[in-house]
Amino acid sequence: MHTLFDPAHLTATPWPKRWLWLGFFALALAGVFSIVLVMARTPQLSMLKELFSVALVVHVNLLVLVWFLALAGMCWAYLANRSGKAWPYFQGGAFWTTAAGAALMALSPLDPHWIVIKSNYIPVLDNPLFLGGLALLFAGMVVALLPLLVAQPPEAKSLRGMFACGIYILGGIVAVALVCFVLTAMRMPPGLPRDYYFELSFWAGGHGLQFAYTQLSMLAWLALLAALAFPPNERAKRWLGMILSLNGFAALLLIFGFSFYDVGGPGFMEFFTKHMIYFAGVAPILMAFYVARMLWLIRVPPHAYRALWMCLLMSLVLFAAGGVVGLLIQGQNVTIPAHYHGSTVSVTIALMGLAYLLLPHFGYASVAGSRLAFWQPVLYGAGQLLHVVGLAVSGGYGVLRKDPGSYGEGITVAKAMMGVMGLGGLLAVIGGVMFVVVVYKSVSTASPSGRG
Ligand code: HEM
Repeated sequence: MHTLFDPAHLTATPWPKRWLWLGFFALALAGVFSIVLVMARTPQLSMLKELFSVALVVHVNLLVLVWFLALAGMCWAYLANRSGKAWPYFQGGAFWTTAAGAALMALSPLDPHWIVIKSNYIPVLDNPLFLGGLALLFAGMVVALLPLLVAQPPEAKSLRGMFACGIYILGGIVAVALVCFVLTAMRMPPGLPRDYYFELSFWAGGHGLQFAYTQLSMLAWLALLAALAFPPNERAKRWLGMILSLNGFAALLLIFGFSFYDVGGPGFMEFFTKHMIYFAGVAPILMAFYVARMLWLIRVPPHAYRALWMCLLMSLVLFAAGGVVGLLIQGQNVTIPAHYHGSTVSVTIALMGLAYLLLPHFGYASVAGSRLAFWQPVLYGAGQLLHVVGLAVSGGYGVLRKDPGSYGEGITVAKAMMGVMGLGGLLAVIGGVMFVVVVYKSVSTASPSGRG
């Protein structure tokens, strides 16, 4: 199998594997919280409503911050190994700090102070456990990025070099997001109400992180394509490198928001929203066209890697659904989580495929040809599509986001469509459980020597 990750550098230190495990546990735990969300949000079930807000905070942060950033951490650890220096203190420090932060955030509902602030990008539980965990997570990201600053950037001559450059740019994008968080904090006007304070704190950096997630998704798409015996030719390689760089360049423009506007002043938030509307989709859409064409040419995937092929396909389908629903957003209704789920679940399925691809390199059994792994993205993806459609249509009837008591105007239709959302959500939960089972099978059937 051709892999864009050089296997020797993946396993030169235990850190890439540990990051993958951190991401895996975050994803699995977040799945449990999504059951609470679905039960509270589905009118036909209408249970556990009092837990909705807290479950939402943990669900979003474990997924959008920990799961995605842990997989980014895996890529950077690989890059650090590839640079020839293992940077053991940085790698260990980054991993354990991030893991401690993630654990605190997951445990934060145990603190009886359940003041939930449903800020965009990073909703928070306003208690010391959660905020301490979030601070540690950001600190872990800073330490993870430091070796990239010192190491020489990779050369893009070979295919693997181009891929490594894409990972390097991913680091640059997360650095831009972190700078946005810091600049916002430094220039924050005093005396803001607590909820607006958090909303403003995470606005610019949160937008930056969206570019990191699409970069991560594009890297996963490329790794999966290459494994399906479809490495690009020289010309395509150049174009793909340019698309990955374009995304990094677009993210860099975010910094201008701080030159033109005062934090919290007129036009500040709008700048970042407009920047996202104009730029966030460009690179991933170009890349998605390339991947779709390659998938078309592959037609019948090699049996041993059919799960990778299905992950790619479902990731593209969800990406398209998220994009279309994004165009329909008007107001603060559930069309917004419909768009989020299309887009972020597209990244998630691509990363699930990446996990299937990398498990054998980490010494576990190959599962990419198994029937269970093939059907897993189908169930997860189809469930999420229903979830997205249910939310999007209900949004059209004015059902409010993040509010389990809202049924909108056309109550009967909206309730029925929120039922569809719940059904899709439960199917996706089953797809999530299947992912855990597939990974468990891979780990449990590996030869003892391979477990490392
Ligand atoms: C089994 C799969 C999943 C289910 C059943 C599920 C379910 C839900 C539900 C019911 C909500 C509340 C929507 C509302 O009432 O406003 C929600 C919110 C959210 N979920 Fe998920 N989710 C799943 C997977 C994911 C994944 C994989 C991600 C990202 C990686 C994600 C990111 C989010 C975000 C960002 C929100 C907040 C949306 C907003 O701000 O309006 N979810 N989820």
